[in-house]
Amino acid sequence: MHSIELSEKLYKHCVKRFRWKSRVKMHQGDSGVKLKDVLDTIKVRSLIFIDAHYCADDVTALGEVWIPVINEMKAIASHPIKKPRAYY
Ligand SMILES: C[S@@+](CC[C@H](N)C(=O)[O-])C[C@H]1O[C@@H](n2cnc3c(N)ncnc32)[C@H](O)[C@@H]1O
Repeated sequence: MHSIELSEKLYKHCVKRFRWKSRVKMHQGDSGVKLKDVLDTIKVRSLIFIDAHYCADDVTALGEVWIPVINEMKAIASHPIKKPRAYY
């Protein structure tokens, strides 16, 4: 399980929280950029939960945009495993 968090503080919190869970891999950065790097390591069909966004508070991070979903979708669309399915 991979998770991307922009906030360094929240990222460190999650690294500590999941330190005993070897299957959880945290990545710090903008998911609009990092998601492609993570997807490059994945060779099987996977569930991708898109939920990165600024919450207009003093805890969550604000990147280049409030919601990096356009670049996230581009990263998913460019992955060699085609026919992505959307679940609503
Ligand atoms: C609604 S929270 C995610 C909650 C999480 N999915 C859960 O179920 O507990 C949104 C998170 O996205 C982070 N965030 C905001 N912009 C981001 C970006 N460009 N890349 C990665 N994370 C981002 C915020 O710091 C915040 O922690």
